[in-house]
Amino acid sequence: MAALVKSFIVILLFSLINEGMCQEKCATIDLQIRQEKTGKLVQAKPEFQVRVLNACPCLQGNVTLDCNGFQTVEVENPVTLLRSGNECLLNNGSFLTPFNEVDFVYAWDTEFPFKPLSSNVKCD
Ligand SMILES: *[C@@H]1O[C@H](CO)[C@@H](O)[C@H](O)[C@H]1NC(C)=O
Ligand SMILES: *[C@@H]1O[C@H](CO)[C@@H](O)[C@H](O)[C@H]1NC(C)=O
Repeated sequence: MAALVKSFIVILLFSLINEGMCQEKCATIDLQIRQEKTGKLVQAKPEFQVRVLNACPCLQGNVTLDCNGFQTVEVENPVTLLRSGNECLLNNGSFLTPFNEVDFVYAWDTEFPFKPLSSNVKCD
């Protein structure tokens, strides 16, 4: 019983410390990128829908993804995905709110492995 209480206190302390270290807790890695085929064909290439979830309890702005080698036949909406060189800016640089996602579509022969590059984490 005492051990149980002790471990409860340890967990409580740990979560308090964690709370204070929100900035560290939310890394670029806290973006979850999922994609799937929509079933649509664009110029005979499959269309993919990409969903980027902000998986941390803070705002993340100026989110960029690695776009090195990314190709699409579908015209991109620059507000959702603005490409500059090997980087793609998501959501026009605006904040992604905690646990919400933004999505965009593209069409190519193969699925492109988007990876998060950077973001501005803002915790209040
Ligand atoms: C994005 O970056 C620009 C330029 O560095 C900055 O002015 C802007 O406040 C940033 N926006 C967000 C949402 O972090
Ligand atoms: C995208 O961001 C730029 C610069 O921050 C701003 O001038 C423009 O109005 C934004 N576009 C939209 C559609 O929000």
